[in-house]
Amino acid sequence: MVLEPPHPKRKAAKTPRRWQLGQIWGGTLKVLGIETSCDETAAAVVTGEREILSSVVLSQLEDHRIYGGVVPEVAARSHIEHLDGLVERALAEAGVGVRDLDGVAATAGPGLIGGVLVGLVMGKAIAAGAGLPFVAVNHLEGHALSARLSHDVPFPYLLLLVTGGHCQLVAATALGKYERLGTTIDDAIGEAFDKSARLLGMRYPGGPEIERAAAQGDAKRFPLPRPMVGRDDCDFSFSGLKTAVRRVVEEHADAEGALPPQTARDIAASFQQAVGDSVVDRVTRAMRRFAAQHPNDRRLVVAGGVAANKALRTRLEQAAAKQRFTVIAPPLSLCTDNAAMIAWAGVERIRAGLLDSLDAPGRARWPLAELASLP
Ligand code: KG4
Ligand code: ZN
Repeated sequence: MVLEPPHPKRKAAKTPRRWQLGQIWGGTLKVLGIETSCDETAAAVVTGEREILSSVVLSQLEDHRIYGGVVPEVAARSHIEHLDGLVERALAEAGVGVRDLDGVAATAGPGLIGGVLVGLVMGKAIAAGAGLPFVAVNHLEGHALSARLSHDVPFPYLLLLVTGGHCQLVAATALGKYERLGTTIDDAIGEAFDKSARLLGMRYPGGPEIERAAAQGDAKRFPLPRPMVGRDDCDFSFSGLKTAVRRVVEEHADAEGALPPQTARDIAASFQQAVGDSVVDRVTRAMRRFAAQHPNDRRLVVAGGVAANKALRTRLEQAAAKQRFTVIAPPLSLCTDNAAMIAWAGVERIRAGLLDSLDAPGRARWPLAELASLP
């Protein structure tokens, strides 16, 4: 929702809070975004006209790879080391100084709390120092709104949010209003990719590794389970599939635990096919439910790191076409963790007057359903 700026003669004292920001609603609105909730340190400057003036992301992958997953303490220390330099770079690449900004947005959760606090405190300090509006952004809302930065997508839309820690189907009806239609009852989808990749002796993060291997594998060789298919709800489950992968790996591994390379590719392809079948079934059910309430808004937004998977995207597009839904997926650079989506969430919230105070807490857990929204 874009509100018109107030009439110039309107008296400031009688102006509701969300109207006081009228002067900065135009295309000149520039927001700095900061993201530190997992293993990417990121800063970006985005405008109200959906321009990404800069977006710098420093991945800590190499720091965590030897552990096979993200180590919270290592992540937090790395954010501390790099964040100030990244913010300076984001501002320099955008060609703006702190005084040219109209707001600061930092991820306040959910995520690894040590890292979240690093970015949150930095964001608050910049906002306080420059006297700028501050927004404490929910990382999931950042993913949820990323398609509105890359595309012209109005509310309402059906959202499939698939990351390393989350797997949700959500009806996004307005800024801050998200109704959860389904979620995972055990592992998140990215987690299933990561854990299965590990069983196959592949590097972290497992999603891209599995996708690459699957492209040269036989998806029909191993009959793996299709979790939840046919169930009446829109929930997901992936832990049974991961256990089935473990069993197949144990059956085919040599005495040292190594798999013949083609067997590993065939397991990867069979796994990806099973995940796809399950996701398509769940999303189809959610599309039917969503369309029953919003028959003229058949939009499916796919967001989060797992949305980078091209095979999965293609299958979702086919399933959506059958339900007469259009799939909208942000470009890969906006799918995986980045600060442009956080800055954009800041733009949307500042425009709506949904600002946060400088004592906004960092949160390890913060469901989308608990977000602040306009009444
Ligand atoms: O959204 P994201 O960057 O971070 C979180 O907020 O979790 O998602 C990372 C997850 C990882 O689990 C990674 O394995 C998965 O996204 N991922 C993929 C692909 N690229 C990244 N999963 C499947 N196929 C991919 N191509
Ligand atoms: Zn994420």
